[in-house]
Amino acid sequence: MPIMMTNQRPLQFAYWVPNVSGGLVISKIPQRTQWDAQYNRRLAQIAESVGFDYALTQIRFTAGYGAENQHESVTFSQDLLAATEKLKVIAALLPGPWNPALAAKQIATISHLSGARIAVNVVSGWFRSEFKAIGEIWLDHEERYLRSEEFIRCLRGIWQESQFTFAGDFYRFRNYSLKPKPLDPQPEIFQGGSSRAARDMAARVSDWYFTNGNSVEGIRQQIDDIKVKAQQNQHIVKIGMNAFVIARESEQQAQQVLQEIIDHADVDAVKGFQHETQNAGQASPEKEGNWAKSSFEDLVQYNDGFKPELIGTPHQIAERIIEYKKAGVDLLLLGFLHCQEDVAFFGQEVIPLVRELEQQLMLELKA
Ligand SMILES: Cc1cc2nc3c(=O)[nH]c(=O)nc-3n(C[C@H](O)[C@H](O)[C@H](O)COP(=O)(O)O)c2cc1C
Repeated sequence: MPIMMTNQRPLQFAYWVPNVSGGLVISKIPQRTQWDAQYNRRLAQIAESVGFDYALTQIRFTAGYGAENQHESVTFSQDLLAATEKLKVIAALLPGPWNPALAAKQIATISHLSGARIAVNVVSGWFRSEFKAIGEIWLDHEERYLRSEEFIRCLRGIWQESQFTFAGDFYRFRNYSLKPKPLDPQPEIFQGGSSRAARDMAARVSDWYFTNGNSVEGIRQQIDDIKVKAQQNQHIVKIGMNAFVIARESEQQAQQVLQEIIDHADVDAVKGFQHETQNAGQASPEKEGNWAKSSFEDLVQYNDGFKPELIGTPHQIAERIIEYKKAGVDLLLLGFLHCQEDVAFFGQEVIPLVRELEQQLMLELKA
């Protein structure tokens, strides 16, 4: 199979659900984003009406950098599904607090409640103080990924096999028969990180690989690396990348907003975050994981969302998005400053331009 085959489909768009307080940037700039259920239901309805495909909820058990309040991801996802008709919602699951038996059962039920619109994002943990606070054992980087991979294998096995048996280092099942199974299509499994372990796991077991924002060249290298390995494993994995969007009528306005976000950075919170991230990317043996090369300014958007530079006019952003599509990105996971207004503006002004450019690209590819 050609390596870039999946990429000929229309690019998918997801947005970060603000189910934790403080918005998507670690900055004291005024933000109109709210974290309550009512705001989020409306946001989900706006997003699906303007062409977003997915919403991603976050899981955090404690405040770290801002985010004083954090709603739980699975229950919150179900609430958004109940408020929408076609949006797919990706619920974050953290192995440790969740075990696969409970997670598989919760998600199977939500699949029935939502008409198969639930997906999961299996996260592997980077926030040591959070684990300590809730009495969870803090495994080292490689072991966290071994556990996540077993977790994913168990989810799939429970969902697909009539009698599931598994003997791993972390989980055990004996002739377990989950009923009802999730509806078809089965819940998609996302998983994120940038380290060698995160990539290799994606190339073995995940439907989707999520990663932090990167330059076009940087993400191309990551994608090529993962797709070659996936092909060796006879596995298909799609790629989702994070980016923070500032779309305004003029480039100057957009750049000014970026500058204001950075000028108002919550310095102590960003430095606290910088300290915590040492347990993620830099803790991996090859030291190439998330945040391993992030500057102070990069960390103001906590998943390196400024790096892709989706900042400017709708035209500039749409053209840049096409560069990412050409590099092999299948989905953009987007963060915004004022979520409701900015999601609406993006959907109305940028997505149609992307669709036009995609048509042109398809014609060029066929020619
Ligand atoms: C798009 C995306 C979403 C993530 N969401 C969460 C989350 O909600 N909760 C969490 O604890 N970690 C989350 N993570 C963190 C990852 O699971 C992982 O622990 C982290 O990126 C470090 O990975 P690395 O050391 O392999 O690069 C997310 C990562 C990415 C890329």
